[in-house]
Amino acid sequence: MTNKYMYFVANWKMFGDFKSLKLVNKVISFSKKFKSSKFKIIYLPPTTLICPMAQMVKNTKIEVGAQNCHHQDNYGAETGSVNAKMVRGVGAKYVILGHSENRENGESDKLINQKIKTALKNKLKVIFCIGEKIKDKRNKKTKSVLSKQIKLGLKGVKLNNNIIIAYEPVWAIGSGMIPKSNELFNAIDFIKSRFKQNLKILYGGSVNDKNINELKTIHNIDGFLVGGASQNSKKFIDIIKKTYN
Ligand code: 13P
Repeated sequence: MTNKYMYFVANWKMFGDFKSLKLVNKVISFSKKFKSSKFKIIYLPPTTLICPMAQMVKNTKIEVGAQNCHHQDNYGAETGSVNAKMVRGVGAKYVILGHSENRENGESDKLINQKIKTALKNKLKVIFCIGEKIKDKRNKKTKSVLSKQIKLGLKGVKLNNNIIIAYEPVWAIGSGMIPKSNELFNAIDFIKSRFKQNLKILYGGSVNDKNINELKTIHNIDGFLVGGASQNSKKFIDIIKKTYN
């Protein structure tokens, strides 16, 4: 049972079409009725759904964000890209940057840093993802990897409540595996210790409606970043409900 203000972020990744929007309607109804008022829900749909979803969630407790944006501030000849202004213009309030799936596709710490600065300049809040790979964990490099990602990713960034950190161990994403409770507590504690400010730190990686009972007992976590399970409204709602039970 928690009494804390918690974030529940639904990252739909490259899934979802117009029909999927009805899942959000269920979550809107739930959020209106739910007894606790100490939570925030953020949907990160694919770019194609930002605009309709942002319309749907107007005047609700739910906000919408983008899954990436270009590092360049201005419009330009960049086929296939969208910039922070564009996603902001159609209703995104957040953007998730530094996700391991994009790091894997070649995004460097430096590029992520540029994207974070551009996003903040355009008044988007940033969910900044960090996390170690399995080989880092095995080699006891988790802390040094996290430190480096934080240092380079946030270089020259003025920190305030516009940045939320999401700790996502790469090996836990989509694998059904989650860290042991004490390991997760220690990783979150370590991340918090890197900042003078009191930043919100979320956990992501195979969060579901079953393991939430264990995850919610880790008291230094400020919320959850949910991939697969967020594409099912019942599971996503259960994750929220169980966090408060
Ligand atoms: P899963 O919840 O599917 O493991 O995805 C986690 C994630 O990458 C969220 O950003």
